[in-house]
Amino acid sequence: MTREVDLVIRGARVVSPDQIIEASVAIAGEHIVAVGHDDTMPPAQAEMRTDGLYLLPGAIDSHVHFRDPGYPNKETWKTGSAAAAMGGVTTVFEMPNTNPPTGTVEALRIKLKAAESSYCDFGIHGLLGDESIDQLEALLDAGVTSFKAFVGNTFGNLPAPTDGALLEGFEILAPLGIRTVVHAENSSILFRRQKHLQNAGRIDSMAHLAARPAVAEIEAINRVLTLAEWTGARVHIAHHSAADSLYLLREFKSRGVDVTAETCPQYLLLNTDHMLKLGGVMRVNPPIREARHNQPLWDALMDGTLDMIATDHAPHTPEEKTRESIWECDCGFPGVETQMPLMLTEVNRGRASLMDYVRWSSVAPARAWGLYGTKGVIAPGAHADIAFVDMARAGTLSQNKLQSISKISPWNGRAVQGYPLHTLLRGRFVMRDGKLVADAAGWGRSVKGIQKMPTPKPRNMEHYSSAIIDAPEGIPANAAPLVDAL
Ligand code: DOR
Repeated sequence: MTREVDLVIRGARVVSPDQIIEASVAIAGEHIVAVGHDDTMPPAQAEMRTDGLYLLPGAIDSHVHFRDPGYPNKETWKTGSAAAAMGGVTTVFEMPNTNPPTGTVEALRIKLKAAESSYCDFGIHGLLGDESIDQLEALLDAGVTSFKAFVGNTFGNLPAPTDGALLEGFEILAPLGIRTVVHAENSSILFRRQKHLQNAGRIDSMAHLAARPAVAEIEAINRVLTLAEWTGARVHIAHHSAADSLYLLREFKSRGVDVTAETCPQYLLLNTDHMLKLGGVMRVNPPIREARHNQPLWDALMDGTLDMIATDHAPHTPEEKTRESIWECDCGFPGVETQMPLMLTEVNRGRASLMDYVRWSSVAPARAWGLYGTKGVIAPGAHADIAFVDMARAGTLSQNKLQSISKISPWNGRAVQGYPLHTLLRGRFVMRDGKLVADAAGWGRSVKGIQKMPTPKPRNMEHYSSAIIDAPEGIPANAAPLVDAL
């Protein structure tokens, strides 16, 4: 006799990047055990009809800041992950610019403790900086899934790694196959420009964009990808913001560099026209640029130059976002809860298909972080991580209703159509009928145990710093230069 499962979902439309199929889904414990025709489903303890809804693999957000430890007035793991659950997001990757920054095993342990209240599964990006180069392997052993290098300056004021340290970090991580997220802006350009603008008395919102021109992104991406190509390290470009730097992704991808890249709804759907109205609320790094960037970024998602959607969920308090001078407004705003309705609205407008969306929101991040198969797909053997989506439901985004502590958003008042109605994480509802399931706090856990990065492909290892420390055999110490000897 067929074993009874926990839940059978009937009458749904299951979305993958290739197709949308009418199917039922059977779930036992934390896993999907069958996807198929209604008649083939095993007996179940509970049944759920979902006629008209789409089942999407839960979204995976590669870029969130949950602020804990260090800034619980801005966000905590509980509030940030609640926002994820409400937004159809089942896995997040959390950034290291907390206090203390996640550059030591001790700091990681503090963060992992804070994450015990999470509603969603998570990976932790450890810090790659000059000070943490000798900690990378220990951090991996202690639980980070990946690293982040703040090549461009941003909240937390962590110093950008020197180019030497970045190269060395890549040399350590390339043979391990571990991917490093890079905030790719050239810090020296940003600092000099900002100083000039401040000295000139500029405090308006457009000065922020003037301080961080697209060339800062172009230069940093070029440098990072050059080092990645040399070492064979895997890299991920965070919050790609400029049309002008897309050619570099195309070029280095065509040369076989394992680079993935994300953009965020704010770079696709907002521009300086909105900045003029909203001011500091929209201050974010990299900056939101002129309207001419929006469509090329969208086209780059469509053609695969950009791989995925992330949010850079970067909460700050309303007071911190609305100061008179733009330089005093903290950078970033919440996004993990609003990404799905915003993007589904664009799907409803015909700008992409639901299959495209699933590729960007779930499949590509699952592949980038070594989770695909267990996450990123609705198929037997995978985690039962599912966003149940109602494409007909329309509403207005309201900052006051966000789960985030940061009740201030440039999306406030925006009309959307297409919402996640329920979110299932490893077989358990964390959001149901549009409401948070309060006692699911703590159900989230680290994805470290299921991460399997593909086989590494390091290059030029004979030139790695570690390989050149010892002089090759046969060269006497302090050998006189050959020319002198002649
Ligand atoms: O605007 C930003 N804020 N950009 C980042 O890269 C970091 C973030 C933050 O942590 O607030």
